[in-house]
Amino acid sequence: MGDNIAINGERLLANLQRFAEIGATPKGGVNRQALTDLDRQARRRLAELAAKRGFSVFQDEIANLFIRREGRNPALPPMLIGSHLDSQPLGGKFDGALGTLAAFEVLETLEDHGIETERPVEVVAFTNEEGCRFAPGCMGSMAFAAGELPASWQDLRAVDGASLADELAATLASLPEATMRPLGFPVFAYLEVHIEQGRLLESEALSIGIVTGIQGTRWLDVELTGQTAHAGTTLLKFRRDPMRVAVQALAGLYDHIMPSDERARFTVGRMSLKPGAVNAIPESVRLTIDIRHPETPALDAMEQIIRDSFARQAGEQDCQAIVTRIFDMPPAEFPSTMADTLSACADRLQLGSRRMLSGAFHDALFMNRIAPAAMIFVPCRDGLSHNELEHVEPDHSIAGCRLLAAAVLDLCAS
Ligand code: GLV
Ligand code: MN
Ligand code: MN
Repeated sequence: MGDNIAINGERLLANLQRFAEIGATPKGGVNRQALTDLDRQARRRLAELAAKRGFSVFQDEIANLFIRREGRNPALPPMLIGSHLDSQPLGGKFDGALGTLAAFEVLETLEDHGIETERPVEVVAFTNEEGCRFAPGCMGSMAFAAGELPASWQDLRAVDGASLADELAATLASLPEATMRPLGFPVFAYLEVHIEQGRLLESEALSIGIVTGIQGTRWLDVELTGQTAHAGTTLLKFRRDPMRVAVQALAGLYDHIMPSDERARFTVGRMSLKPGAVNAIPESVRLTIDIRHPETPALDAMEQIIRDSFARQAGEQDCQAIVTRIFDMPPAEFPSTMADTLSACADRLQLGSRRMLSGAFHDALFMNRIAPAAMIFVPCRDGLSHNELEHVEPDHSIAGCRLLAAAVLDLCAS
């Protein structure tokens, strides 16, 4: 069991503020979507902070960024800590940035106190965790854990038309001082601090959530095709209207999926109509569906209900429905030994904690496939996230970082 170590809370808060200026939105949030110029600016700032402290900087093929503080035995697999720097279009200042900057604060604290660790400790900022510009999410950790980029990403384009290959090349080129390293390498363990993005900790007045697992997520792309025709002249009986299919199917799904199972989540976050003229029945409607549940059979059942519902409504309107699964993240369970370490450290630091499941997906889910992983949650106001108003009390950011520092020392002592 290691000793407690004092992190520099003021420095962590100042860094959070400085990073929040990159892509700041009028309502106090952040729009720093993956692999944009703003994302590159944030990566540069982190690399500059690292250089000032003499840490080495690396990046890999998917532009994951690593900051390494050497250990006594450089050959040992590193202890990896971090999160992501990309944000939602109307995101908050803490989702991802807190975990990355808390991890960097731990590295600086080790340096301040001249603490040597046997193994290297590395901070990672994973690429494109959010998945809102380029889908899927967690691209960086997914590729890292697999040791390769899936072939399907080769010609991938963002919602704004940008090519993944071009944006990766520009991002890698924007940090020429970072040494390129192969994708994926042995990792001793992975820890990630993150805001809870829910209300449980706040409602129980606790400062720490020890995450034992992550519920499953699936993303579906739904394409409904009918026939475009004149809005003023086309009689009801001659209409093949994909918007009507969408509305009727979705109304039934909204009424059924979440009301019938309180652990189920169902969200339509994106929809577009073609040709998109006020006075034309649309030719096609395209929408995304995000479903979540802690159990795979329940996800299977939800997906089937969605497929059946669009097929039935499309049949009734003489339209066509194609439902494609574009992302599948099965539920993950973190090793109990990692949670035990976090609980012991939280108790030692006298931080009130509870164990909990994550409703959001995170890079830790993929890292857990190749190394023991766990997460530390801190509360956020009203559980609000993926929103510019996302807010974390300074004491809670500091508490999460203190626990991370203690857990890193405990894990690295073994
Ligand atoms: C992560 O951003 C998620 O959507 O869960
Ligand atoms: Mn996040
Ligand atoms: Mn997020």
